[in-house]
Amino acid sequence: MDTKLLAAGPEAVAEAARLLRAGEAVGIPTETVYGLAADATNAAAVKKIFEAKGRPQDNPLIVHIAGMEELPAVVREIPAAAQKLAQAFWPGPLTIIMKKSDAIPMATSAGLDTVAVRMPSHPVARQIIRAAGLPLAAPSANLSGLPSTTTARHTFQDMNGRIPLIVDGGPCEVGLESTVITVAGEVPTLLRPGYITREQLEAALGCEVALSSAILNKLAEGEVAASPGMKYKHYSPRADVILLSGPFSAYKEYVQAHAGAGVFAMCYEEEQPLLGVPCIPCGRAGDPDSQAHALFAALREADERGAQVVYAHSPAQDGVSMAVYNRLVRAAAFQVIEL
Ligand code: TXA
Ligand code: MG
Repeated sequence: MDTKLLAAGPEAVAEAARLLRAGEAVGIPTETVYGLAADATNAAAVKKIFEAKGRPQDNPLIVHIAGMEELPAVVREIPAAAQKLAQAFWPGPLTIIMKKSDAIPMATSAGLDTVAVRMPSHPVARQIIRAAGLPLAAPSANLSGLPSTTTARHTFQDMNGRIPLIVDGGPCEVGLESTVITVAGEVPTLLRPGYITREQLEAALGCEVALSSAILNKLAEGEVAASPGMKYKHYSPRADVILLSGPFSAYKEYVQAHAGAGVFAMCYEEEQPLLGVPCIPCGRAGDPDSQAHALFAALREADERGAQVVYAHSPAQDGVSMAVYNRLVRAAAFQVIEL
C-alpha cells in the first residue's frame, strides 16, 4: 500500500474523514504526539491499528472526541471527578479513564470494562474528528516499542506502506503522550505522567491523586499493570540508553571516561560545548517543557547517527520532569547508574 502524506488543510481533512468512515487507519497530528486513528466503534477498523503498529492485543487504545456532547456515547457514566478534570484540562493533553459504554468494542478497550478518553486541542485533530463524525481510537503512531513520533516525517518512517494516509500538521507542541488518570476506581490514580502534572490534577480535583507504582519503577515480577502499556519495553531506540544519576560534574566525568565510537551523551543545549564528547541535545536546562518537546526526536536522532550507547543525565522526578523521567527510564530499560 502506498502511504500518502498530505499537508493539513481542507483537502487532507476531507480525505482523512473519508478513509476513517471507510474503516481505515490514518496518521493524524495531535498536540502531544502523532496518533494512528481509526473508528473507535468499529472492531475491524481498530484491528488495523494493532496490525499497523505491531501492538500487543492486550494494550487498550485511547478514544478521542472533539466535544463534551460526544462523551456520553462512549462512557457508561461521567463521575464528578471526570467532570472537574474535563472542565479544567479539555481540550488538552489529559486522558481520563472511565467505565465504557457498549458502543466501545472490546477490541478498543482490549477486553477491559473501562475506556480511556481524551479531547485533543490540536486544531487539525479536532477538524478530523468532527469531519469523520466518529470517536477515534488512536494510539501513538510509532511502531510498537519505538519512540513515539512527533513529526509527520518520523510517522512516515514507521508507517510507510502500512496505512493509506498521514496528515502533516507540523511538529507536536508538547512532544510527550498525554497524562493518563483513572477515575474508574475508588481513588483517582495517575497511570502515566505527562504535561498536565500530578500537582495540577490535585489542584483541580481538590484531593490527592495516587501514583501508580509502575510510573517511576519497574513492575515487580508477576505484578499486574494498572495500565497495560506500562509493562512493555517502550520508547527504545536501537541504541542502548543508560541513565546516569548525580551532579553534572560527575555526569561529565563519566561520559568523558566512557567516550568512544558510537557513544553519545544526551544533554541540554547549553551543556553541549562543555562536555567534549559527541552530543545529542535535548531541550534547555531548567526548562522541562523544552525537554519534553525534544525527547522523542532526540531518541530517533540517536539511531539516525548510528549511536550504540547513549548516556543521558537523569532528570528530576516532579512536575513535567516526572514525564520526561518516566519515558527516559523506559527507553533505558531501567538501567540507571548512580554516580
Ligand atoms: O497523547 C496521547 O495520549 C497519544 C495521542 C495520539 O493522543 N496517544 C497515546 O496512546 O499515547 P497509546 O496507546 O500510545 O497509549 C495509551 C496508554 C497505554 O499505556 C494504555 O495501556 C493506556 O493508555 N490505557 C488505555 N486505555 C486504558 C484503560 N482502559 N485502562 C488503563 N490504561 C489504559
Ligand atoms: Mg504509545
